[in-house]
Amino acid sequence: MSLDSSTRDATLRALQAIVGDNACLVADADTESYVTDYRRISRGKASVVVLPSSTEQVAAVMAWCHTHDVPVVPQGGNTSLMGGAVPDTRGDAVVLNLSRMNRVLAIDTVNDTLTVQAGVTLAAARAAAEEGGRLFPLRIGSEGSCQIGGNLSTNAGGTAVLRYGNMRDLVLGIEAVLPDGRIYSSLRGLRKDNTGYDLKHLFIGAEGTLGIITAAVLKLMPQPRASAVAFVAVASPDAAVRLLGEAKRLSGGAVTAFELISGPALDLVLDYLGNVASPLAQRHDWMVLIELSSGADAASLEATLLEILESGYEQQLVQDAAIAASVADAQTFWRIREEISDAQTRTGGSIKCDVSVPLSRIADFVDEASRRVLELVPDARMVIYGHMGDGNVHFNPLRPKDADAKAFLAQWYKPVSDLVDGLAHGEGGSISAEHGIGAVKRDDLRRYKSQVELELMWQVKRALDPKNLMNPGRVLPAMGEGG
Ligand code: MLT
Ligand code: ZN
Repeated sequence: MSLDSSTRDATLRALQAIVGDNACLVADADTESYVTDYRRISRGKASVVVLPSSTEQVAAVMAWCHTHDVPVVPQGGNTSLMGGAVPDTRGDAVVLNLSRMNRVLAIDTVNDTLTVQAGVTLAAARAAAEEGGRLFPLRIGSEGSCQIGGNLSTNAGGTAVLRYGNMRDLVLGIEAVLPDGRIYSSLRGLRKDNTGYDLKHLFIGAEGTLGIITAAVLKLMPQPRASAVAFVAVASPDAAVRLLGEAKRLSGGAVTAFELISGPALDLVLDYLGNVASPLAQRHDWMVLIELSSGADAASLEATLLEILESGYEQQLVQDAAIAASVADAQTFWRIREEISDAQTRTGGSIKCDVSVPLSRIADFVDEASRRVLELVPDARMVIYGHMGDGNVHFNPLRPKDADAKAFLAQWYKPVSDLVDGLAHGEGGSISAEHGIGAVKRDDLRRYKSQVELELMWQVKRALDPKNLMNPGRVLPAMGEGG
């Protein structure tokens, strides 16, 4: 179904009256980047793309859309890997993009909080914290474009969860506009507040299906005095887990990141980057990137890192290691890790599974899932990487070099992702550790959530969004009427 032009004109006129003509986009050339997802796997249609600049404008847009039954797709930096931030192809939805709400509202270095509008990019939030001599610890590769509202809506994770937690752990208060235009405000910087249901958590991880987050109070942490980074070849996924145990034991809580990288993942990213060499002299099947950070000075932190690596050698967990000798080295190690995602997007033909299992099961899971996938697709490149310290790996079998990307995905996406997700689920794991559900995984939820969980999700949805106007067709699998 596409929207008739009189309804679209009425929507446009009404929204222009709220936000001004320049903040409403309708021409295809102008809306293109707002309706196409980050990985360019889906291209939807919007009746209008609206860019409000205040919470009051968001509230007025939402109230109008609610009265006139117009669906709304909330959007931040549009970096969702699950197609959660772009509209479907019906063309009746308004895309409400928060980019113009990009002001840092306050920093309180006594309370250690940073209050921002939802459209502030993660990089800008981190910079504002740093200017105040503090750390906002969420770290993800897309920090230059992803926004705090989207980070909250997807409960973003990234590379420092092991130390600091997910976005849900890093927020004290939010402001959100409800589907009918009412404003829910709990922009308070309280670390203790047991006054009934903690409603902010409904909106965190809801991917814009219950309302639109417009501002947040974020937790700030002390800046570590020093960090130490190593790129380490390990004997196996099991050796990696055991090395992590050693690192935790010997560093007394200084392990900030512990990222797994498979041989094919490193091959792919080095090929993509072109002018960057592997930190290690030889090719290895498995590597980890370890970062320690703490209030200790640089020399003692490096001594701790060496002690961890020596213990790893003695136990035959570690095969080789490169310790970053400078900030530039550490940045290169991290660049190698963080660019794996874009390397896959550019290569095409990647079966993206984002699974987590208990840390005690992750090594067996990686071995078993690799074996089973290679039985199915013997020449797949096993691009496996990610946040092993959280029990979360991006398990992304990639097409063989000479295979056509589209044909490969058409044949293998479903059987492989079903296999990998099923194995993770069987280990008590999750089929989406940190990327969310969006459009891509929505129907899979029916298999992996219990009937009670699905019913509760729909009950919450209907309580907050009875007209099912918020990001429709995302997250919640259809369940009869209303779905
Ligand atoms: C990452 O860890 O690099 C991100 O989650 C992105 C991705 O896996 O593609
Ligand atoms: Zn990740």
